Amino acid sequence: MKRDHTRTPLIEAIEGHRSVNPISFHVPGHKNGLMMMGNHSFYQGDLTELSGLDDLHDPHGAIAEAEDMLADVYGSLKSYFLVNGSTVGNIAAILSSCEPGDMVFVQRNCHKSVLNGIKLARAVPVFIETEWDQAGTSLGVRFDSVKKALLAFPHVKACVLTYPTYYGYAYNIRKIMEELHKYDVTCIIDEAHGAHFTLGTPFPETALDCGADIVIQSAHKMLPAMTMGSYLHIGSNRVNGRKVKEYLAMLQSSSPSYPIMASLDYARSYVGTFSKEDLDQTLQDVSGFLQALEEIHPQLIIEQSHDPLKLILKLEGRTGYVLQEWLESEGIFPELADPSQVLLILPLVKRGLSFPYEEAVKRISRALENAPVVEVSPVIRPKHSVRESHFSTLELALEEMDAKTEVLVSLDEAEGEISAGMVTPYPPGIPLLVPGERISAEVIWRLNEYIVNKANIQGHHRLVDRCVFVYR
Ligand SMILES: Cc1ncc(COP(=O)(O)O)c(C=O)c1O
Repeated sequence: MKRDHTRTPLIEAIEGHRSVNPISFHVPGHKNGLMMMGNHSFYQGDLTELSGLDDLHDPHGAIAEAEDMLADVYGSLKSYFLVNGSTVGNIAAILSSCEPGDMVFVQRNCHKSVLNGIKLARAVPVFIETEWDQAGTSLGVRFDSVKKALLAFPHVKACVLTYPTYYGYAYNIRKIMEELHKYDVTCIIDEAHGAHFTLGTPFPETALDCGADIVIQSAHKMLPAMTMGSYLHIGSNRVNGRKVKEYLAMLQSSSPSYPIMASLDYARSYVGTFSKEDLDQTLQDVSGFLQALEEIHPQLIIEQSHDPLKLILKLEGRTGYVLQEWLESEGIFPELADPSQVLLILPLVKRGLSFPYEEAVKRISRALENAPVVEVSPVIRPKHSVRESHFSTLELALEEMDAKTEVLVSLDEAEGEISAGMVTPYPPGIPLLVPGERISAEVIWRLNEYIVNKANIQGHHRLVDRCVFVYR
């Protein structure tokens, strides 16, 4: 890093503007918070493209400097602030890398924004399967799956991988991308959960260090940035930077949020000045928390993935939803629950700041103190033919789907039909059904599991009546 990362140029510009006690005759309509009843000081930083505050879509001042400093921390050729999450980053990355009809490799359990980007680009997806553990957690893509797909489709244009996985598992993207680059494939890495990997060991390698062409990170997930604040980094000349900029300007608001951008500036400074001592302290706190959790309940299983800030809790004999409900009853709110487990995301804590780990241990103890030890019967999962293959394609092309009629069928009769809807348990936002894909017995089994557990399921479906839309 070449720059002084204690500086935050955009925050300085906003503070400079506020220091003159400005009177707002501009949007937004809350007039620097004056139109708010009560104390809402955060409105005061909600500004617009005033003199000195630069313009996200054509930056030459504070935003340009803040984005240069971002590129310096991450070692990219060019970095962008995003005000519409990694969602917009994924879509812009795909649109700028693919023409209609181009083939794209995509990790099957990707975020829905990736599939939406492929649809908007009218590209053709080839789904790459991932490895799964016993609990149904994805561990990442295997090299031989990509290699086999490359032999079948050597003219593929781009590849979109999720790294790390939602639960913090890393895998060998360096080797995978080296192979893909031999075929001149643009490698787009959705690193939504890995903006902190730049801190180095014990975190996994960053996607940019492994050779990615475009990387998208939700700064708001792991760094202290506001919701929707994300980064997009360009890592190589394989990427058409002009197109990326053009799509970002097209897809994002022409009135980008200054509080979000300021928080992105702050998050970059936070990670750019995070010292070895800060990291040691953070990890020491995490290991103390882990040790304390071990004592709480004989059936509480605590697992860490490759990312020490992702903690997976399982309570034997209970679903993740039950565990989540018990934790929430004591005011402990996990990131997400699934049928097997809950995921806790831990903070990066700088020295001088603190996180209430002790209080959390007390509350988790209270939440589980009356949970009896139960007998555990193994969950029998159906065999999945697609998971055993390395890749799969859609049964229908987009144009063919447009010409088909949709019919509502009961889940019990849906096996072998072609899905007409995207059906996505949320969180985490990984579609179980994708339009144009044949519906397997295993997917129906998993949907049933989500329905029984009353999970939130987004998309085009009628699951309240246990029905889905299919093409006929
Ligand atoms: C892997 C992954 N990619 C992309 C996204 C979208 O990110 P954002 O919420 O920043 O738009 C998410 C959100 O959960 C995600 O988990």
